[in-house]
Amino acid sequence: MNTNTTTFALPARVLHWLMAVLIVAMLFIGVGMVSSVSERHAWLLAIHKPLGIAILVLAVVRLAVRWRNPPPPLPADLPALQKLAAHASHWLLYALMLAMPLIGWAMLSAGGYPVMLGDSLRLPAIFPASPVAFAVLRHLHGWLAALLYLTFLAHMGAALYHGLIRRDGVLSSMDGRRAATAILPETVDAARETGDAEPGDPA
Ligand code: HEM
Ligand code: HEM
Repeated sequence: MNTNTTTFALPARVLHWLMAVLIVAMLFIGVGMVSSVSERHAWLLAIHKPLGIAILVLAVVRLAVRWRNPPPPLPADLPALQKLAAHASHWLLYALMLAMPLIGWAMLSAGGYPVMLGDSLRLPAIFPASPVAFAVLRHLHGWLAALLYLTFLAHMGAALYHGLIRRDGVLSSMDGRRAATAILPETVDAARETGDAEPGDPA
């Protein structure tokens, strides 16, 4: 179990930044793929499929790491609505990390296309062949990609707001530097008892 309550555990941080790079790359590869009619399309698709399946595996590992190492609490003085928005957006990101690859895989299965990881490893179909299901899942994959992109932008904006404006230790809880003391309500209580609390510290 993680006993450090001000930062995410090292495996959680490594997985967060690795997956952030992979997911943003996948969004751009996907858009590049559908806007290309040259031989680059096949080349991008050959990268898109195994990378997407790798994201699915990493997301499962990440949720297991999270279960073993609960994340640090948000700052005690953060308004309830912002806490709710933070938690809801994090769960939406986790849901999309699992849904996007599964829908991509199911879509190709429904279309009767092979899902190859490299030259020889072929994944089994996870959806019965159906042209209608292929069309629905193909649209869903595109719409959820747009939702993932918008959620990522909002998430990044919120992280920068915490790091540059509130400076409350939330950004440093994910980049590995020690969080500001304001993140821990008990630290503030202790400071009050010893008379060290500053004006503006959380009530
Ligand atoms: C996190 C994982 C994934 C992300 C972020 C992602 C993202 C995208 C995006 C942005 C597009 C373009 C959508 C559009 O503009 O309509 C796309 C298309 C596509 N994706 Fe994914 N994808 C992921 C996983 C997968 C997986 C695992 C597979 C298959 C195993 C897959 C198969 C496809 C296919 C076949 C297309 C359409 C290609 C075409 O029409 O030319 N994707 N994806
Ligand atoms: C596609 C890219 C990204 C995805 C999918 C993503 C996903 C997530 C998720 C799911 C969490 C919640 C962790 C948990 O509670 O287990 C999280 C936390 C966090 N992320 Fe990201 N992230 C991305 C990019 C970024 C970027 C670019 C930044 C910084 C500019 C960032 C900064 C943070 C911070 C500071 C936290 C901790 C928030 C807290 O303590 O509540 N993330 N991220």
